[in-house]
Amino acid sequence: MSNAPILSSIEAGVMTLQFNRVDKKNAITAQMYQALADGLTTASNSSEVKVVKIIGADNAFCAGNDLIDFLENPPHDDDSSVWQFLFALNDCSKPIVAGVNGPAVGVGTTLLLHCDLVVAAHSAVFMMPFVSLGLCPEAASSLLLPANCGMKKATEWLLLGNRFDAREAEQFGLINRAVETAEEVTEQVEKWCQQLTRLPQESIKITRNLLRGNQTGAIKQRMIEEGDNFKQLLKGESAQQAFAAFLNRD
Ligand code: COA
Repeated sequence: MSNAPILSSIEAGVMTLQFNRVDKKNAITAQMYQALADGLTTASNSSEVKVVKIIGADNAFCAGNDLIDFLENPPHDDDSSVWQFLFALNDCSKPIVAGVNGPAVGVGTTLLLHCDLVVAAHSAVFMMPFVSLGLCPEAASSLLLPANCGMKKATEWLLLGNRFDAREAEQFGLINRAVETAEEVTEQVEKWCQQLTRLPQESIKITRNLLRGNQTGAIKQRMIEEGDNFKQLLKGESAQQAFAAFLNRD
């Protein structure tokens, strides 16, 4: 198997994007954001691709931004790969199916807001610790979480940044289904992907557009607004201290 940190392949109408940096719990570097953005753009433009599948490993979905990479290559420019990835997620013209095992932190959780179908195992741990890191929400989570999961729960998850499990994620509509094992996650993801590849593609496209209404513009706008704040906060003392504390922990 390739040791590229994002594994990308197309088979039987399904583009798979797999996090493959398990020793770092699939924390995302700028290079990985670019690979994900490229994969999503290819999927959107290819008639061969009917569904996008985003998965990690059996013990880690994604630990969010790589904090070392963030310190070394802060995404201050609007064309930084992290923002390109978020815009590509919002613009993706094909349904996205995700399977989550283990930690899903920061963008590892917020990217799920842009997925059409999500299943997570009992081992999944969700967390959006933006505030405790001296940052603010991204991926339009400040818009989509209250809309999808309710204002009180969104506030609790985003302000306090406490961890929560797959049952709670299912209860509040962040994911479609909580299951027990990694095998069940794989089975459910495959089932959804196969179902989606067999359904009439034009109907899927129109249904997704109707479900989203006119939201994609507002979502992009919120991503930009969050990004402007995020970039400022990234330079701030609280973020620098929080990052250093993580990197210097025993
Ligand atoms: N950035 C950089 N490195 C990270 C990382 C991140 N976001 N998340 C995990 N890692 C690295 C750890 O430093 C460790 O590296 P090492 O083996 O070289 O010391 C390795 O991945 C394994 O992580 P570890 O913390 O030992 O695993 P765990 O199972 O005990 O905990 C997490 C997993 C994800 C809960 C924990 O690593 C964590 O909280 N990470 C930070 C998440 C975060 O704040 N993300 C940014 C959100 S904006």
